[in-house]
Amino acid sequence: MRITVCLTDNRPDAWIEGLRAALPEAMVENWRPGAPQADHAVVWAPPQEFIDDQPALRGIFNIGAGVDALLKLKLPPEAQVVRLDDAGMSVQMAEYVCHALIRHFREFDIYEADARESRWSFRKPREREDFAVGVMGLGVLGERVAKAVAQFEFPVNGWSRSPKAIGGLRCFAGEAEFDDFLGASRVLVNLLPLTEATRGILNRENLSRLNGGEPGGYLINVGRGAHLVEADLIPLLDSGRLAGATLDVFEVEPLPAEHPFWRHPKITVTPHGSARTVREASIAQIAGKIRAVELGEPIAGVVGRERGY
Ligand code: NAP
Ligand code: GLV
Repeated sequence: MRITVCLTDNRPDAWIEGLRAALPEAMVENWRPGAPQADHAVVWAPPQEFIDDQPALRGIFNIGAGVDALLKLKLPPEAQVVRLDDAGMSVQMAEYVCHALIRHFREFDIYEADARESRWSFRKPREREDFAVGVMGLGVLGERVAKAVAQFEFPVNGWSRSPKAIGGLRCFAGEAEFDDFLGASRVLVNLLPLTEATRGILNRENLSRLNGGEPGGYLINVGRGAHLVEADLIPLLDSGRLAGATLDVFEVEPLPAEHPFWRHPKITVTPHGSARTVREASIAQIAGKIRAVELGEPIAGVVGRERGY
């Protein structure tokens, strides 16, 4: 069995070494144009040239949860596309979202500003019942995040494509229930995959529906930058419609130094690090799945190409 590795923006050596150790029966090599045809590929954002050079791949294993960059390519129709299934990401996502939520709810940003001025200030406690959290996407990451938030006794709403029943959550599904979900939520967490149906979903109209249409909504975007219509955000913040935003993902990454999000007082920017790929766990998961595929066994995390995630 031959495995080819093509990782844009990632150093391949440790991945290759790890895959060789986990699959000693396989020939694992970094891809070079004209390399022999492989059975499986381990990839992150590969160029179309790679796919064209490897037309008979049976499995394409993405070293991230989101496959939007991969599905933009013209892929071999028969190849199975497989995304990472947690592999250490959901706990990171839960801590990131809980941190952003609690920082906003407890007004730690204001205490930080006061502390910089040596100002001993008290703020009136706020009621968590007034800060219902809406999690868009109840998949591997969204469900874990929603349950972590519920541990802090915030009311939690969840929205997915198919109907779900998850203990401790009020679940909404599909376009028909989207407006009710938004209206019932004050803090919106985006954990959707980027697809044709979800691109631009964080827009002026939808964000204005938060909190029953009253001012004071808050956005935490950890999905993809293109979910947000970036031009809509600052007017919503400046008018007070939204109280703030924590953004981990952007239309253009790295976020250009001149981008106004860096300097806006109500926006917290982090560099697409809310849930990083954990190499060892990911290698173990991918190697296990390649073995299962070779044995003809079913695996989790197979992407439905027609639905886009
Ligand atoms: P997942 O398991 O595939 O879950 C996706 C969820 O979104 C599912 O609940 C799905 O509904 C729902 N969904 C998809 N399309 C929808 C639509 N049109 N309307 C309503 N709900 C819809 O994905 P995941 O592993 O949780 O990851 C989610 C995303 O997080 C990734 O695609 C990636 O973009 C992002 N991510 C970001 C980082 C970061 O560091 N910022 C790290 C990892 C991942 P169903 O359950 O009904 O299918
Ligand atoms: C990171 O953004 C991922 O999709 O895993």
